[in-house]
Amino acid sequence: MNLKEYLAAGQKRTDQALERWLPAETAPPQTIHRAMRYSVFAGGKRIRPILCMEAARAVSDSAAGVENAACALELIHTYSLIHDDLPALDNDDLRRGRPTCHKVFGEAMAILAGDALLTLAFEVLAKADGVDDTGRARMVAELATASGTVGGMIGGQVNDLEGEGKTPDPALLESIHRAKTGALLRASLRLGAIFAGADPEQYDALSRFGEHAGLAFQIVDDLLDVEQSSEELGKTAGKDAAQHKITFPAVYGLEQSHWMAEQERLRAHAAIEIFGARAARLHELADLIVDRKT
Ligand code: IPE
Ligand code: IPE
Ligand code: MG
Ligand code: MG
Ligand code: MG
Repeated sequence: MNLKEYLAAGQKRTDQALERWLPAETAPPQTIHRAMRYSVFAGGKRIRPILCMEAARAVSDSAAGVENAACALELIHTYSLIHDDLPALDNDDLRRGRPTCHKVFGEAMAILAGDALLTLAFEVLAKADGVDDTGRARMVAELATASGTVGGMIGGQVNDLEGEGKTPDPALLESIHRAKTGALLRASLRLGAIFAGADPEQYDALSRFGEHAGLAFQIVDDLLDVEQSSEELGKTAGKDAAQHKITFPAVYGLEQSHWMAEQERLRAHAAIEIFGARAARLHELADLIVDRKT
């Protein structure tokens, strides 16, 4: 299977699991279920679920059911995008090539759709088969911490918003990116590792891979905001400069930012050496994170 086919298969496996967990559009109250499905099935790359499933595969040949953990990650991620786009946050009209959730369903329903996806993510983990109670509890704790206020996604979003217009500071920049995006990326690897029964050395290696790939992911997101068009991205380009965000290009310039993403790519590769050929796909995914154009 080439990389393109592999990614398509990972997206399909994720979408099939999401399809099982998300209430039907016809289930009352219909508005919220339509809003949830509108944003979830808008064509995201599914990079977090794919990383989760691949981490599990690197550890074990028998990780059936890991797609549910992968699904929980995508639910949290999609909730974070819906809320990130709200008028009170980044105020964006375009997401995944479509009008944003609040543009179509109104602000109240977009807030509630985000809340509902967040809540559903933990229901999915709590009910997930294929892992023992200790593993399940560890996955719940990891996902909650990664989404939370202390070094997690929400904490990063707070610093991102409060940083608007402030003098770009390298230390603040790195902490924002590690928290708002890096934490959930690392959690993607960790959930896969926990599900598959990784030993401490494997867990640590996958965690470090996730940290480097996660930082690279947001450096590249910042670069794409400058270098790509809205049409190519499926979201509004040029937003970060317009909103005076603290980004890698703002602090370091384009060339240096590309170089720093490269460094994170190399560190990600080095982190998973212990897996040898079992980590071939993870190496490809680290490359994809840095080389992607959307
Ligand atoms: C965009 O994430 C938001 C960030 C955390 C940088 P993705 O680039 O993974 O967005 P989708 O899921 O493919 O739409
Ligand atoms: C968002 O960062 C990170 C999230 C937690 C959603 P951005 O604000 O840069 O994401 P995009 O560029 O709107 O996707
Ligand atoms: Mg934002
Ligand atoms: Mg945004
Ligand atoms: Mg961005």
